[in-house]
Amino acid sequence: MADIINGKAFAARVREKVARQVARLKADFGCTPGLAVVLVGDDAASGIYVRNKVKQTEEAGMRSFAHRLPIDTDEATLLALVRQLNDDKDVHGILVQLPLPPQIDEASVISAIDPAKDVDGFHLLNVGLLNTGGAGLVPCTPLGCLMLLQDRLGDLSGLDAVVVGRSNIVGKPMASLLLAANCTVTIAHSRTRDLPALCRRADIVIAAVGRPQMIKGDWIKPGATVIDVGINRIPAPEKGEGKTRLVGDVDFDDAKEAAGAITPVPGGVGPMTIAVLLSNTVRAMCLSKGIDHAALVD
Ligand code: GUN
Repeated sequence: MADIINGKAFAARVREKVARQVARLKADFGCTPGLAVVLVGDDAASGIYVRNKVKQTEEAGMRSFAHRLPIDTDEATLLALVRQLNDDKDVHGILVQLPLPPQIDEASVISAIDPAKDVDGFHLLNVGLLNTGGAGLVPCTPLGCLMLLQDRLGDLSGLDAVVVGRSNIVGKPMASLLLAANCTVTIAHSRTRDLPALCRRADIVIAAVGRPQMIKGDWIKPGATVIDVGINRIPAPEKGEGKTRLVGDVDFDDAKEAAGAITPVPGGVGPMTIAVLLSNTVRAMCLSKGIDHAALVD
């Protein structure tokens, strides 16, 4: 039976550390980190994420600026808001919630964000820095996964890692981070041949495909560490008519018998994303003001 990795508790510790850093920045430098979150449209799930981001930003002692725009907002209007936030001295981090409605080109919006305020790490400059060993801003979810892995395993050098999924938000940056941590990394995707055999060789499996319970227990090498990034809502007739429940990309009940450690869904990777977002905002402010982020608090 695997150890269950408690992402919720780990994320709470990260947020406490961020709050101590914010208090130090206020006391020693007289400045308060600020995070702007932009939501276009009224998608229910995105609305919940944005509310949680605002709440946790304020709980960490930071300033939060939420901008909610209607679903029919045009690209020029969103770009004008992004430029206004780029110029706002109280804003140190900017997050535009994805996906955007079809009339808006995501790449144009991401490239309009000041790379120094790009707390999502999606701007091409930050993507380039991540892939060349530079000190840019790193996407929140993969960085949260890396923190959970290092907390569990310590040094990752030489370990075989398989990342299932090749998205720009998770799969590709996750692979870059694992490579930088000296893992031997394979990125698998929908065209990969014999995915079960590939996963079975891995010391670390990262599941980020968006397919409910796809990765089975007999795909997991005994003792491997499994990080499940998936959040899928499936019918749960056992809870009553029309009810649903959240599951990951890993068949948790099956995989926990083989794995050495595994993240649950919910309560695994999910809570880490916002905690890292807050940490990235503090880091963005430190980078822009020449403050040593690593030396801020222990
Ligand atoms: N939508 C789902 N995940 C993310 C994320 O990490 N950042 C942004 N901006 N949008 C998302």
